[in-house]
Amino acid sequence: MPNRSHFNSGHMTLNRLNRIGKKPNGTAPIQRIEKTFHSMYIEDAVTFLKRVPDSSIQLIILDPPYNLEMDVWDSFSDYLDWARGWVDQLYRVLTDTGNCVIFGGFQYQDLKHGDLLELLHHVRHNTDLLFVNLIIWYYKNGMSAHRFFANRHEEAVWLAKSKQYYFDLDSVRVPFEEETKRLYSRDKRLNPVSIEKGKNPTNVWEISRLNANSKERVGHPTQKPLEIIRRFVRALSYEGSLVLDFFAGSGTTGRVCIEEGRDSILVDSDASLVNYFNQHLENVIPSFLDRGYEIVKDVDVSEFVDLVCSARCMVPTGDGGPERSTRGPLL
Ligand SMILES: C[S@@+](CC[C@H](N)C(=O)[O-])C[C@H]1O[C@@H](n2cnc3c(N)ncnc32)[C@H](O)[C@@H]1O
Repeated sequence: MPNRSHFNSGHMTLNRLNRIGKKPNGTAPIQRIEKTFHSMYIEDAVTFLKRVPDSSIQLIILDPPYNLEMDVWDSFSDYLDWARGWVDQLYRVLTDTGNCVIFGGFQYQDLKHGDLLELLHHVRHNTDLLFVNLIIWYYKNGMSAHRFFANRHEEAVWLAKSKQYYFDLDSVRVPFEEETKRLYSRDKRLNPVSIEKGKNPTNVWEISRLNANSKERVGHPTQKPLEIIRRFVRALSYEGSLVLDFFAGSGTTGRVCIEEGRDSILVDSDASLVNYFNQHLENVIPSFLDRGYEIVKDVDVSEFVDLVCSARCMVPTGDGGPERSTRGPLL
């Protein structure tokens, strides 16, 4: 069967622009970010989302309950009915170049009905969001099984608000091995710049799950590895853009945003988020911090969005005072 991505008009446009050396829509503006802003809310996701201003968020990263009964928050009699409350607001809050990633699994379908498969079906038939990619997160460590093939993957769905979605492939390319590079560099048909840039990571990502002794662990039972969140943050948002995670858990997304120069909003119904996130802050890698960050407290989300927006709209030029700039990517 042919690779269907060749027939995807979005992919075809990106490939054509790449070939002629042009940047696609959604190219990030060059901003000088001196510090990033981060806020945290302990609240139900659906109630919170209603107050998020329209078209304000570049990237939404969601690792919602999977309906696996892993914890008190992970059991639903009608999962889809609950999920519609937040899924149906994603389009409204995203910027025109905005992206959304929803983690989940397909392998757990049972009589309860309610998983990522059903969510995706709802998105396709009831919202204007575009489905861009299904990412398979493959890992080698996992539970054994005797009545079926042992599971070694989870999925993440990448959705976008429009065909102008922001995508920075170069920021997440995987370097070629030295030996491969040497071989490729002898092949005159290959562009040396492309060889240097590395390869597309594809939509199957091999990243280990966090084991019990991982240094990244801050105590949350279903904490995601930094590496997987970092890849999404780098590719689907740009420096100084706003990232929202309203099933924040321990706040892994917030930590990555601090390290990668994005502003962030974290929400969880469980107040333990605050302690987990403090632990993440202690673990922030100093070499990633080439700018400051501020945790903004006691402001509602609309005020926070205004604050971030005004910080990003005034870009100091270095000579002759601040210059007005747009917040969104240059189209
Ligand atoms: C799978 S965990 C997220 C883990 C996170 N990705 C991390 O790396 O730490 C899901 C989180 O959703 C939260 N949650 C469940 N129902 C919620 C709701 N209605 N509103 C907000 N948060 C909720 C839970 O408290 C839990 O921390």
